[in-house]
Amino acid sequence: MIPMNFTPTPDLLAGRVILITGAGSGLGRALALESARAGAMVILSGRNLRKLEQVYDEVRAQGSPQPAIATLDLAAATALDYDNLAATIGSEFGKLDGVVHAAALLGDRTPLEQYDVPMWCRVLHVNLTAPFILTQVLLANLRKSADASVIFVSSGVVKNPRPFWGAYAVAKSGLEAVRSMLSQELEGEANIRINSVNPGRMRTAMRAAAYPAEDPNTVPTPASVSGPFLYLLSAQSRGIDGQYIEAQ
Ligand SMILES: NC(=O)c1ccc[n+]([C@@H]2O[C@H](COP(=O)([O-])OP(=O)(O)OC[C@H]3O[C@@H](n4cnc5c(N)ncnc54)[C@H](OP(=O)(O)O)[C@@H]3O)[C@@H](O)[C@H]2O)c1
Repeated sequence: MIPMNFTPTPDLLAGRVILITGAGSGLGRALALESARAGAMVILSGRNLRKLEQVYDEVRAQGSPQPAIATLDLAAATALDYDNLAATIGSEFGKLDGVVHAAALLGDRTPLEQYDVPMWCRVLHVNLTAPFILTQVLLANLRKSADASVIFVSSGVVKNPRPFWGAYAVAKSGLEAVRSMLSQELEGEANIRINSVNPGRMRTAMRAAAYPAEDPNTVPTPASVSGPFLYLLSAQSRGIDGQYIEAQ
């Protein structure tokens, strides 16, 4: 059972090294701030250095442990970029205790008949292939943790693939297959947990792009859904593995 109104203590994630993609905005930024507030050393990953530096400053301003910045454009990253990131984490931290794959692209909201094929490929790459590659290259660092937690960020379109969600829905469904397979493949390694969390609707740029007519003030903030994520990143959730979890 995941406690929905989980309130982290200031030392919940003390000593843990957690990489968060899409950390420059939206859910990724909120989880970076909340994880750091709970004591984690956060590796802020994203494609926009300026945004990551702003979050870096916010983390420092709240008195949390010093974060690190890892710029990585998931649409363009090469095998060398991934390998370099894994090697740097290994040499700087010697382990990795958590990964949250928050980065994603919405893509087009059009019928499949008209869906732009290059956009299809980009969305599948950023939302599905890139988190797969990143997890694959980071496994060696995750294995060095006593209790590592990988979280794929899911969506309501997985259970209910409504019209016009295109490559986004396909990619998020694919992530669930990755989550399930990987968790089973690592069954013998109790120190690595693989789960996915559907955060539900959140007041972010992606939500505004998907629902332009909606009043953002009626939508929960990303920080307000952070509880289940922090719980899963902490030792308190040991034993929870291979699950799809709804944060709202
Ligand atoms: N908002 C919702 O209602 C909702 C509901 C269900 C699930 N989700 C999921 O929640 C997660 C966070 O989304 P959000 O709502 O916070 O949206 P968001 O504010 O648009 O954040 C998406 C993040 O992904 C990053 N990103 C996009 N393309 C990238 C690339 N090529 N390389 C690296 N980073 C890239 C963005 O970077 P830039 O800042 O540089 O653009 C941004 O930081 C996503 O996985 C989304 O699918 C959201």
